[in-house]
Amino acid sequence: MNFKLIYISPNGTTEKTTQILKNVIEKDGHTVELINLGAGKNREDFGQILEIIDEADIVGFGAPAYHMDMLEPMKRFFQAMQTAGRVYQFGAFLYLNYGGITSGKAFSNTALLFASMDIPLIGAMKVMAPHFHHLDSFPTQTTEAFIQEFYEALQAKDFALILNDRLKALFSPRKKRVNLIYPLVHIIGKKRELPITIKPDICKNCGKCVKECPVAAISIKCVATIDLEKCIHCYHCSVICKLGAVEVPVEKLDKMIQLNKCIIGMENPPNEIYR
Ligand SMILES: Cc1cc2nc3c(=O)[nH]c(=O)nc-3n(C[C@H](O)[C@H](O)[C@H](O)COP(=O)(O)O)c2cc1C
Repeated sequence: MNFKLIYISPNGTTEKTTQILKNVIEKDGHTVELINLGAGKNREDFGQILEIIDEADIVGFGAPAYHMDMLEPMKRFFQAMQTAGRVYQFGAFLYLNYGGITSGKAFSNTALLFASMDIPLIGAMKVMAPHFHHLDSFPTQTTEAFIQEFYEALQAKDFALILNDRLKALFSPRKKRVNLIYPLVHIIGKKRELPITIKPDICKNCGKCVKECPVAAISIKCVATIDLEKCIHCYHCSVICKLGAVEVPVEKLDKMIQLNKCIIGMENPPNEIYR
C-alpha cells in the first residue's frame, strides 16, 4: 500500500515519531512518503500536497498538541482540505506528540471534521514527549516500542475504519477536568504565550530561522525580525539558533507548564492508542 505521512514538528519530536512510523511501515512492505508541512514551499502552498494525497491508500497526520489542540499549520491544512471540496479516497490516522498534560480536543475536533469530509479514520495515538528545552531524551526505547505497537494495532484490524457513531466517545478527553475547563485553559494559554525576541547584537543574519520558521514569520530587516501577528509561538527558531540570538523566557514557560500540571494533572497512561 501507499502511505503518506503529513506532519509538522517545530521542535523535532513529532518528526522523530514520524521517522519511526516510516521505518515500521516500510518494514511491513509498504511505501511511505513524508511531507513536512513546516518546510520550504509547503509552508505556504498546500495545493501540491492535496494532489499528492490523492495517490495515497492511507494518510497519517502528525502534529504536536499546542494549547490542547493540533498545532496551527496542521489545522490550516485541514481547512485547505475542506475548502478544496475534493472527494478523498484514503483512510486516515492521527498521531499527536504532547507534553503529557492533555491533548485536549485535538482528536475529537479532527475526527468530527474528517467525518464531515467523509474521510474514514482508522485510528490515532498520542505519544508523550519532552518540551523543546529538554529534547535529548526522546525517544526512549519504550516510546519506540509503543509507536510500533500502534502500527501493529492498525494492521491487526486490516486498517479498518472506526464507525462514525463511536468517534465521539472514543476521542472525548480522558479527564473530565479537561472537558470542564477546556475553554478557559485554552483562552488563558493563548493569552499567556510567551514573547520571543531576537537580540540584534547577537544575530549574524545567517537566515536559518527565516528559512525554517514553519509559518514564515521571520524576515531579515538589518537583522532577523519576527512578525508577531504570524508567530505561532512554537519556539522552533530558539531551538535552531546556535548563536543564542533568539531569546525565550524558558523559566516562565516552565512555571506555566507546572501550573498546567497542577490544574489539569498528567495523563495516565501517557501513551495511548485509540482504535
Ligand atoms: C506553546 C506550547 C503549548 C503546548 N501545549 C500543550 C498542551 O496543551 N498539552 C500538552 O500536553 N503539551 C503541550 N505542549 C507540549 C508539546 O506538545 C510537546 O513539547 C511536543 O512534543 C512538541 O512537539 P514537536 O517536538 O514535534 O514540536 C505545548 C508546548 C508549547 C511550546
